[in-house]
Amino acid sequence: MTAARPAVGIADIRLATASRVLSLDDLAAAQGVDPAKYHVGIGQDEFSVPAEDEDPVTLACAAAAPILAAHGTEGVRSLFVGSESGVDQSKSIGAHAHALLGLPTGCRAVEFKQACYGGTAALRAALGLVAAEPGERVLVVATDVAHYELGGGAEATQGAAAVAMLVSADPAVLCIEPGSGQATIDVFDFWRPNDRAAPLVDGKLSVRAYEQAVVAAWDDYAAHGGGPIGEIARFCYHQPFTRMAEKAHQRLLAHLGLPHQATAVHAALEPTERLNRRLGNSYTASVYSALLSLLTGDEDLAGRRILIGSYGSGSVAEVFTGVPVAGYREALRPAAPDAALAGRVRIGVEEYRRLHALAERGSAEDYDTAVGPGKHGPVRFAGVHGGIRRYEPVAGA
Ligand code: CAA
Repeated sequence: MTAARPAVGIADIRLATASRVLSLDDLAAAQGVDPAKYHVGIGQDEFSVPAEDEDPVTLACAAAAPILAAHGTEGVRSLFVGSESGVDQSKSIGAHAHALLGLPTGCRAVEFKQACYGGTAALRAALGLVAAEPGERVLVVATDVAHYELGGGAEATQGAAAVAMLVSADPAVLCIEPGSGQATIDVFDFWRPNDRAAPLVDGKLSVRAYEQAVVAAWDDYAAHGGGPIGEIARFCYHQPFTRMAEKAHQRLLAHLGLPHQATAVHAALEPTERLNRRLGNSYTASVYSALLSLLTGDEDLAGRRILIGSYGSGSVAEVFTGVPVAGYREALRPAAPDAALAGRVRIGVEEYRRLHALAERGSAEDYDTAVGPGKHGPVRFAGVHGGIRRYEPVAGA
């Protein structure tokens, strides 16, 4: 007789974002673009901009530190980080963040890469590990700075955020159900050669590739015992811009021969879009920011099935489902994500462009970063010396 599988899933989930924010009204004015293209056409209002001493490592620490403060480090033997915007070709963000977070030496720290899908790869690995070793807990962090070329078609879809999740048996927030559908399709829609700070992107192809991959992942889910779409109450997709999630869902409904009117799809997905409309794209973190929008929204979804739809260019997609646990809203601090957004310092286009240029500095020259006002999180990026990225505690954090 086989032993019953333990319920595994997310015991806590926290968001961190960069300390600066740029309004898309300001960017549109500087570009001579109708702001409705951004607010309506792509469904975005503003995006987070990292200060010069913030990066995916500091964002990861800012998201993860409150989880460790609340739950301790006992039984945390793995730190799995997903990121597109890793700070080193070899040393993982996990290895950087491990010491900064005070995790014990008896812990593995690694990074998962596959564009925006890396956070889901980290989460799936964590779920498998906890299912095999239910006494362990895994800290998963999806962290990214979405950084495109100035003046390019993708500029309005930048952003920055990290989402940290504690994965455990008998989770207090979301049980992840067995089964998933996945798809890998080789395509050059968005990619970043090793020598480039900003990705190369074929925007129109990327939209089609995302839609195609979600449909393929759904078909794989259905072929491997996934339940009918009618049993799913809410849909959380990767949101490079929020309209993209709606396009993907419309495409899936059309594929299944179901009504897919744009206004109805917008209404259905809107509760997942609250945070990402203001964070911008956060690559690996985006689908989990969408989940957090939903879980910290007005509706009590305990016992209702939620689909998580992850997409990473190149491309890999996965769909799987989770069910919020009774009382999950008490386990979360519903106001915290919105407070993190409200705490950002507004900047203008000139300052945004200055920070954008600073973010492209390499490792050949030594430099120190300036300490600015309005920091989020316990750790700052202090600069590069002798090719080593230095991090230090934020005073008073
Ligand atoms: N009022 C209202 N709507 C307007 C408007 C106006 N004044 N002007 C334009 N629009 C609408 C357009 O009609 C269009 O809507 P539809 O898509 O419904 O037709 C929408 O606004 C966007 O307009 P364009 O298609 O003309 O926009 P664009 O070509 O300049 O840029 C983009 C769009 C190609 C997606 C670009 O933002 C981009 O390249 N982004 C980066 C790539 C990306 O995010 N791809 C998503 C899939 S890949 C992925 O998910 C991985 C990842 O994270 C990168």
